[in-house]
Parts: sequence; structure tokens; C-alpha cells
Amino acid sequence: MESGLDNLKHAAACLRAAKNVVVFTGAGISAESGIPTFRDSDGLWQRFSPERFATWDGLLKTAVADPRLFADFLIAVLDPIAVAAPNAAHLAVAELERHLPVTVITQNVDGLHQAAGSTTVHEVHGSIFEIVTLGGRFVRLLSRAEVREIVQRLREAREATLVLPKALRAIHSMLGPGGVSIHRPKIVLFGEAMAEPAWTLAQEAAEQCDCMLTVGTSATVMPAAMLPGIARSVGARVIDVSIEPGDADFPLTGPAATVLPDLVRKAFR
Ligand code: APR
Repeated sequence: MESGLDNLKHAAACLRAAKNVVVFTGAGISAESGIPTFRDSDGLWQRFSPERFATWDGLLKTAVADPRLFADFLIAVLDPIAVAAPNAAHLAVAELERHLPVTVITQNVDGLHQAAGSTTVHEVHGSIFEIVTLGGRFVRLLSRAEVREIVQRLREAREATLVLPKALRAIHSMLGPGGVSIHRPKIVLFGEAMAEPAWTLAQEAAEQCDCMLTVGTSATVMPAAMLPGIARSVGARVIDVSIEPGDADFPLTGPAATVLPDLVRKAFR
């Protein structure tokens, strides 16, 4: 069994020798920015059942049946994202681009890779900031400040006598009637198609890489979880960074905001 230091040394050598790196990230990379993951003990799906909150149908039923719980869920999702900043892990991923071609594929909808300076980011589960029509046509981008405003108004709505109308008004800029259509955030809920062109580009990037760095993902939700297997099928080596030992050529166990900067420093400085 290799020691953590040996693994870090070999992973750094693998990264240094790579010609085309894909960084595949999940909720764990944003945990140290204060955004809860989904499946850890304090994860979102431990507090709100995915059956009721991870589908549009479930959300709609909850909004009508229990508007205060509906507002609580939206606050639990939006508030951490609204006040989040990139952490040292996001910044280390952005720094990688100074040394070699990097494609970031993220399952996160928090925009933190772009905020850290990564320039090629495929958001395969969409983005909370991108507003589209029901048909998927782009409407506009929300700012993080606008999301903070939505959270503030949701907090007021949950204390109101008539919670639902006030909550719907609070989120109107993100979800609701707009012009000739209904607009919504471009996020992928369970059972929905992956975000395009991000998903097509992500598969192509996985097929062309010679090193995949997976960070902070349980790699359990399909089809995104197929990506490490695609990379392996074309001979790429896989480095995994997680607080739990991952299935990889080089599993690096520890918090991403510590391990990733160490890895990039060891590889390129
Ligand atoms: N540093 C590194 N890894 C971490 C950290 C951390 N600080 N904190 C948690 N992790 C790891 C956990 O051990 C876990 O393996 O991050 C992973 C988070 O897994 P999930 O909560 O399942 O998140 P994710 O893999 O992104 O889920 C995929 O599932 O519900 C859907 O659409 C949702 O995009 C999400 C998808």
C-alpha cells in the first residue's frame, strides 16, 4: 500500500507529463467554500428528500402543500451559493491552465470555477445563474448579488402570512412567467436531460485526455459518473482527490483545498 506522500509524488509526475488534462469536479470541491454537498452526513439530500426536492414535479407539489418548507429548501440551496467565493482548490485548478491544456467538467451549478479564473468549464448539470425559457432558449445571466437579493426576499416570505405568493414573487427573476414564456434556471434535475452542449463537449474531452483529475465527487450519479470510465478506456491515468479514498490510479485522500494546491505545487513549482 503506497503512502500518501508516494501517491502525491506519483500523481504530480503524472500531471507534469500530461498533454491534455480533464478536471472532473463535484460538490466536494465547493464544500470549503461553504456550499454543502449532497450525500455527506450534513448533505442537502440528508435534510431534504430528493424525491420531493430533486424533480420539478416534487418541487411544485411541495410549494403548494408546504410553502414554508419550499422556501426553506430554496434558501438552503441558494444562500450558500449566493455568498460563496472560490476556495484554494478552485484556484489551484485555475492555476493548472498556466502549465498545460485543461478542460474543467463540473457537476456543480455554483459558478465557482469561472469565478476562480478557469476558462474552459463545461457545466453538465447547468448553472443556477443561467436563466432560460422552458424550451431552453437563453434569457439572461443572474448575478451573485441578485441571488443574494432573492434569498433575502425568501427569508421575508417564509415569515409572511401568505407564504407562497410572496415566495413566488421573491424568485420571479429566476423562475416564473416572463414575456411569452416561463423562464427557469438552467439546472438539471433528476430525470432531465444533461445540459447541452456541455455534456457533448464533456464526453469529447474525456475521450481525448491522457490524465483525469477527479475532485470531490461520489461519482455515483449517471451519466456524469461515466466520465472517469471513458477516460480510462482511452488509456488516461486517473488522480482522485476526496476526503474518502477514491477509485483511481493515484487516490489522494484529504480536503481539496489542501490537497489540490499541494499537488499543483509539487507538479509545477
Ligand atoms: N474535499 C474533497 N472532497 C470532499 C470534501 C472536501 N472538503 N467534502 C466532501 N467531499 C467528497 C465526499 O466524500 C463525496 O465523495 O465529495 C463528494 C461529494 O459527493 P456528493 O455529495 O454525492 O456530490 P456529487 O458527487 O457532486 O453529486 C453528483 O448528484 O444530486 C446530484 O445533481 C447533484 O451534481 C450532483 C450529483
